[in-house]
Amino acid sequence: MDLNLTGKRALVCGASRGIGKATAMELAANGASVTVLARSAEQLEHVRTTLPVIHAGQVHYALAVDATQDFELIQAVNNHVEKHGSFHILVNNTAGPAAGKLIDSTVDSLMEAFVQHILTAQRLIKILTPGMTSDQYGRVINIISTSVKQPIDGLGVSNTIRGAMASWSKTLATELAARHITVNNVLPGATETERLEAIITKQANVRGVSESEARSNMLAEIPMGRFAQPSEIANAVAFLASPSAGYITGTSIMVDGGRTKSLS
Ligand SMILES: NC(=O)c1ccc[n+]([C@@H]2O[C@H](COP(=O)([O-])OP(=O)(O)OC[C@H]3O[C@@H](n4cnc5c(N)ncnc54)[C@H](OP(=O)(O)O)[C@@H]3O)[C@@H](O)[C@H]2O)c1
Repeated sequence: MDLNLTGKRALVCGASRGIGKATAMELAANGASVTVLARSAEQLEHVRTTLPVIHAGQVHYALAVDATQDFELIQAVNNHVEKHGSFHILVNNTAGPAAGKLIDSTVDSLMEAFVQHILTAQRLIKILTPGMTSDQYGRVINIISTSVKQPIDGLGVSNTIRGAMASWSKTLATELAARHITVNNVLPGATETERLEAIITKQANVRGVSESEARSNMLAEIPMGRFAQPSEIANAVAFLASPSAGYITGTSIMVDGGRTKSLS
């Protein structure tokens, strides 16, 4: 199996921590030159300097930008592409919407999530499609959620936006297949990051239980009896980014320890 990403350039969004950071590490470990993107410049620079370098010619960059600010994002990515070349691999990833029931959520919170997830991804793919097409190598991987298969209680805005993102992804997979660009999703289950801690705290508050009880309740729903490590999500991304995954497009891979009950 060919997982070698030497000569490939990857843009990994939401890479200052959590799943995005682990993904950047894994792509770099397989030889890609990685550009990490997030808002916090200091954290991002720290990640950039710790990315593996396994061959000469592999250079990593950091882009500190708020991806929801359209002008800022477009300018930063366009400038980067002009200077360092276009990307072969795009990992769409950002923070998840706040937890809570959909009925209690504001219209504004849905709008914000739409901007952060869908519009950011659309802006990026429009910039990067020409380069992927001319290099005949494109891998778009979206970090979404298992809620695409089975909505998760208490994550109303997230459930809604994840469905839209999966539909965006499937549509593009069809439209871009003939250009050697694949578009796939990785659906993490409960993964040990700051996002998971926030969800546990919220569930504990809503249900009036301690955080350790909320944690145990979540673990009880996972057949493997443990949360995922971010690196386990990153492994699936690295495979989809690789030459070996060239005939896989329009699909979603669940990495959830068996939690989701859906058959497809
Ligand atoms: N962890 C889980 O259990 C789990 C399960 C299922 C799905 N997911 C989903 O997987 C994705 C990643 O999860 P995670 O746990 O790694 O999340 P996380 O720890 O909250 O990390 C989110 C990343 O996105 C960046 N970010 C947030 N807003 C941004 C903005 N406006 N512009 C640019 N970057 C931004 C953050 O960096 P800055 O703050 O520096 O900008 C950070 O690097 C999320 O969508 C999450 O909902 C996670």
